[in-house]
Amino acid sequence: MKNSEKPIQNKTAKSNKDKIVAPAKDAATELRKLFLDSLQDIYWAENALVSALPKMAANASSAGLSSIILEHLAVTENQVARLDQVFELIGEKTQGKKCEAMAGLLKEGDNVLLETTPGAIRDAGIIAASQKIEHYEIASYGTLCAFAKTLGENDAAKLLTQTLAEEKEADCLLNDIALNIVNITAAE
Ligand SMILES: [Fe+2]
Ligand SMILES: [Fe+2]
Repeated sequence: MKNSEKPIQNKTAKSNKDKIVAPAKDAATELRKLFLDSLQDIYWAENALVSALPKMAANASSAGLSSIILEHLAVTENQVARLDQVFELIGEKTQGKKCEAMAGLLKEGDNVLLETTPGAIRDAGIIAASQKIEHYEIASYGTLCAFAKTLGENDAAKLLTQTLAEEKEADCLLNDIALNIVNITAAE
């Protein structure tokens, strides 16, 4: 048998199977810990966005794009305050934990600025980076809402649902401006 004909062994599956651990006895406690971890993750992410959004707005050539980003900065600051309330409602200390995903998405946004010159193409890159960020937030808040409801944290769930709606709205605004910028660029 030639080397290329040898059956491929799924070593990953075997090693992953070996690592499966028994579920915790108290699933509610484990879900609560996962909920708290996810809250700390998004708290770090939102604060990182408060620091990063002004730079993105300043580098946008389209005044419309810049104002969408700055408006979302104000919304994001309010989302941080809302997360403070969520921590309080569930009786936990407000705390962030580095979100590697958001750190990576922000690095991608920085790369767009390093690799483009001001103008429509840079704007398109800023929109793409911003939408990836919004999609991460939509996924995160969708999960947080579900966890909060499952845990009976209904007041927290209401606040998280408000933020989820804001992230979806920001994504829609970015979609609209993307179409405008593409149309303007195509017309030039
Ligand atoms: Fe946000
Ligand atoms: Fe957002």
